[in-house]
Amino acid sequence: MMFKLFNTKEDLKKMLQNNEPRLVIAGNKNICVIRQGERLIAFENECPHMKEGLNGGLVNYLNEIVCPLHTYKFNLQTGIEEKQRCASLKFVEVEYLAEGIFLKLAQGK
Ligand code: FES
Repeated sequence: MMFKLFNTKEDLKKMLQNNEPRLVIAGNKNICVIRQGERLIAFENECPHMKEGLNGGLVNYLNEIVCPLHTYKFNLQTGIEEKQRCASLKFVEVEYLAEGIFLKLAQGK
């Protein structure tokens, strides 16, 4: 299932600050999105540790999202928690098409 978020990369840049996590509701899923330049990173918003909303976290200088509840740190490239104390981020695929920028969610999830 595809969810359109932005019409163009210009819209993406206008509407999201670099490295500022934002919550998007797509279907029945809460997705955290983070813009880095012209790229969009998306993953399930629930922290894999104890389900805190990662959209309330910060991106640090090591390119990790830091959960606001217990400060576990998840690498934004690999999704892996710094000390592997819990599962990794569940990334959501982002598609850049002529018609816009979309989240691609698995059917029924
Ligand atoms: S809920 Fe995120 S680190 Fe514990």
